[in-house]
This record gives sequence, structure tokens and C-alpha cells, in this order.
Amino acid sequence: MQTCPIRPADHDEWLRLRKALWADCAIETLNEEMADILGDREHQAVFVAVRPAGGLGGFVEVSTHPHAIGCETRPIAYIEGWYVDPDLRGTGVGRGLVAAAESWARSKGFDEMASDTLFDNEAGLAAHRACGYVVTGRLIHFRKRLG
Ligand SMILES: CC(C)(COP(=O)(O)OP(=O)(O)OC[C@H]1O[C@@H](n2cnc3c(N)ncnc32)[C@H](O)[C@@H]1OP(=O)(O)O)[C@@H](O)C(=O)NCCC(=O)NCCS
Repeated sequence: MQTCPIRPADHDEWLRLRKALWADCAIETLNEEMADILGDREHQAVFVAVRPAGGLGGFVEVSTHPHAIGCETRPIAYIEGWYVDPDLRGTGVGRGLVAAAESWARSKGFDEMASDTLFDNEAGLAAHRACGYVVTGRLIHFRKRLG
């Protein structure tokens, strides 16, 4: 399946895929984030997998961070989101998307790529490992409402 940088015509499909990955996120927020990404091409990129019959089958979003846990260089490139439609999983689409993101990072001069996944996302963990990523830490998030 062909992988390429996001194109203007991909907007609705990209939104569909983002909604599938971040189901709890409001459409308005997803749209705002997309506008931010497209407005910051220097530091952010999106690659999509194009279905032969039209439409998208997956995406990866990559950006830059000042640093990340366990990385030996700074700044670093960072996989912000990685998603493949369920009917295409296990066929190499995800690996192709990550390869495109890594090529983008190399072209920007980065030596390391970081990423994350939820601790109970077995498939996400296995796919990261299969693509050469090693676990560098496990975070617990907290919140407290300030009265
Ligand atoms: C993670 C995800 C993007 C992988 O996409 P994919 O198209 O299935 O990945 P690929 O088919 O290219 O597989 C890449 C490698 O990961 C391995 N892999 C993928 N899914 C796996 C699973 N469930 N269990 C074990 N290994 C897996 C593959 O075997 C392959 O390794 P190999 O080439 O050595 O065989 C996809 O499962 C997905 O969208 N999951 C839901 C969203 C998600 O969890 N995203 C990642 C965290 S944000």
C-alpha cells in the first residue's frame, strides 16, 4: 500500500482515522490539532497509507520534542499518533508508516525517534518493539483539581 505525505484531499479521512485512534477526543479538538499540525510543517509531519480503491487505511503523525525519557540526544523526533484500520492490520501498513516518519526525522537531522503507548496496549507495544523501539520507562499520570 502506498504511503505518502498528507494531501489536502485527505482531510476527512485523516479526521476519521484520528477519531478512531482518539475516540474520547472531541471533533472540535481533533480539527484544531489538525490545523495546528498543518500550520507547523517545519516541526510536524503526517504520512498516510492510501487504499488502492481510494480513501486512507492509516496514518502516522510525527513531531519534534526538546527531549524524551531514555533518549540519548536532544531534541528528538516523536511519534505522536500511529493508527491503521483494523482490516489492514498485520499486513505491513504500520511498519511502512513508521518508516516514512523515520525518513522525515532523518531528513531533519534527528538521530533518535521516541514514541509512547498506553501500558495495556499489547498490540501497540508489540508493534513498536517489532519496529525496533525499546521500552525506556513507564509513566503514571496524575491530576488534582485546584480549588
Ligand atoms: C499499532 C498499529 C499501528 C500497527 O499497525 P499494523 O499495520 O498492524 O503493523 P504492521 O502490520 O506493519 O506490523 C509491524 C510489526 O509489528 C508486529 N505487530 C503488529 N501488530 C502486532 C500484534 N498485535 N502482536 C504482535 N506483533 C504485532 C508485526 O508482526 C510486524 O512485525 P514483523 O514485520 O517483524 O512481523 C495497529 O495495530 C493499530 O493501529 N493499533 C491501534 C492504535 C495503536 O495502538 N497505535 C499505537 C500506539 S499509539
